[in-house]
Amino acid sequence: MRLFRMLSLNGIPRSRARDLIRAGRVTGENGPLTDGNAQIDGPAFLDGEKLRGEEEVHLMMNKPGGLLTATRDERGQGTVMELLPERLRRMGLGPVGRLDKDATGLLILTTDGQLAHRLISPRWEEDKVYLAETENVPGEEAAERFRAGIELSDFTAKPALLEVLEDRGESALCRVTVREGKFHQVKRMLSSVGCPVITLKRVSVAGLVLDEGLESGQWRYLTDEEADALYKRVQMR
Ligand code: URA
Repeated sequence: MRLFRMLSLNGIPRSRARDLIRAGRVTGENGPLTDGNAQIDGPAFLDGEKLRGEEEVHLMMNKPGGLLTATRDERGQGTVMELLPERLRRMGLGPVGRLDKDATGLLILTTDGQLAHRLISPRWEEDKVYLAETENVPGEEAAERFRAGIELSDFTAKPALLEVLEDRGESALCRVTVREGKFHQVKRMLSSVGCPVITLKRVSVAGLVLDEGLESGQWRYLTDEEADALYKRVQMR
């Protein structure tokens, strides 16, 4: 791939690419790259940050409970990487955001660190949608507290949406939509309105919806359209 093409894939138009190259801000492994028309064989960087090449890989997984969302664990606990074939594990795939060990559902994995970073960055405020089974049934007051932004012990959660899909008397099935991803956030928000979480499943991130055809523990590559939509969401295309 030519350097101009790689920069364009990263949302940098030709005129800006010329300026960046001239300023020496585009580098390869052996120093500045000076010719936008030259073929690029290895990685290239803008201000030290790796540029996306066409070889990036993205997939979605239906995460099962019981595995950590991590590339490895020093204490030897199982991670979601175990579900991938060796060849993919060696490609530098990393999870986008974290699901708790007991949480299930949509986990995106990508080799593109910048895409991953933007998808979880509070700056881009991408929606994450969860289905939560709760003890008790949240009422209108709880939904209002979610809309206002719930104060937790160490931070105030941004406004979020809480919808009761099924009132089961002493429990409920709820849909929660949040735009940030702090540690145990959904569980803590629901607990704070008196409805502790029994099970938690993520069904959507940044408009990408979990493929219900994926059994627990299965994964598939994102289609070109799905990947393209994610890049567009975070203005990388
Ligand atoms: N909120 C939680 O409490 N847990 C998760 O895994 C994700 C969001």
